[in-house]
Amino acid sequence: IHSATQIVQIIDNQNEFLTGDCMKTAKILNETENSGCCLIVGLDGNIEDIGYNKDILNKYEKSNFEKIIDASGKSIIPGFIDAHTHAVWSGDRVHEFVLKLAGASYMEVHNAGGGINFTVDHVRKATEDELLSSLRDYLRKMMECGTTTVEIKSGYGLDLENEIKMLKVIEKARKLVPIDIVSTYCGAHSIPKGKTADEAVEDIISNQIPQIDKLIRDNILNVKNIDVFCEKGVFNVEQTRRMLNAGKSIGLQINFHGEELSLLESASMGADLGARAISHLEEISEQGIEKMAEKSTAAVLLPTTAYTLRLKRPPARKMIKAGIPLALGSDFNPNAHCFSMPMVMNLACVLFEMSMNEALVASTLNAAYSLGLSKTHGSLQTGKFADLIILDAPRWEHLIYQLGSHSYLIEAVIKKGEVIYN
Ligand code: NIG
Ligand code: FE
Repeated sequence: IHSATQIVQIIDNQNEFLTGDCMKTAKILNETENSGCCLIVGLDGNIEDIGYNKDILNKYEKSNFEKIIDASGKSIIPGFIDAHTHAVWSGDRVHEFVLKLAGASYMEVHNAGGGINFTVDHVRKATEDELLSSLRDYLRKMMECGTTTVEIKSGYGLDLENEIKMLKVIEKARKLVPIDIVSTYCGAHSIPKGKTADEAVEDIISNQIPQIDKLIRDNILNVKNIDVFCEKGVFNVEQTRRMLNAGKSIGLQINFHGEELSLLESASMGADLGARAISHLEEISEQGIEKMAEKSTAAVLLPTTAYTLRLKRPPARKMIKAGIPLALGSDFNPNAHCFSMPMVMNLACVLFEMSMNEALVASTLNAAYSLGLSKTHGSLQTGKFADLIILDAPRWEHLIYQLGSHSYLIEAVIKKGEVIYN
């Protein structure tokens, strides 16, 4: 890719993430004196070299390149990593959006049998093929918004059969859409109808997790994380700890929902357990912030949810200052219906007072860290995957500044060196 006006590299400091003031200064190559920037992809799909045209062209014979993309006047950023989605579902909840706009809270809708349990009823009735077909459509839309890697959770099955059905749908989607998928088991997303919380915990620990472990060992499922919705009226801190530990004992990374609607000190518990990431955190305490920073537990902030539900804003500035690796996710689900990481970044900047560089780091390198992928994903560095976006703008910030503009600013999305969308 030749003659770009700007390439945003995002260089990590060997820690696989950036935090504090380093997030402000994600490394940017800018065109100087008629010399643009250039990025070379090897045949293996990894980045071979990156730098200014004049330096790179001294090093390589132009005739050796198989293909050259002219990016004059354009900018290049890493592909987005969406760190948190619930993309397998059926049955929209637009009727609940009406109720929420009229003042109903998330938990009021949930306790009235709506919310997650509404979606569970639909997912249980849906076939694998139906779920796969809608998931494929959603993932294509995410890809058109620049997402090249996405985390996807189960959690609308809430029993062994339907949780496995969802996880199998996620496996099949890997073959249908050319982006990377990280799969998360979230059997503890809600208390299933007809069970108490303790009964649900028992089923998850002694029935679901061992069965999922077997499917992982038989190479039928490739699940990487365990997730629990730790919340007042759902699973308490002790129940959450037990389920996360059970997941950890079969080798899953801990990556769960905490401190969203109420402060339970689940962030401290998670950090102590060795959680890789905790999501939401609108209500996190000073103690939770300290613990997460101490253990380098990633905070995955979800601005679409905080915005849609009019929640308290998570203390992003404090978290960055404390040294927490901050990541962003779309939380795409029937409650927060958003495919677009550029939109998520705009909300993070305006609502959570993040700078545009910080939002970009949080949507690329730090999101990769939250999923345990930052050795290969999340920044434009030699040896990493050539996952990137070409923007039809001389400065990348247009993608955030021009609200809702991705469809005409994103000129191409490239995954491991292949153009997957243009
Ligand atoms: O991340 N808070 C719990 N889980 C989801 C919402 C899922 C749903 O409402 O269907 C979230 O916001
Ligand atoms: Fe979620």
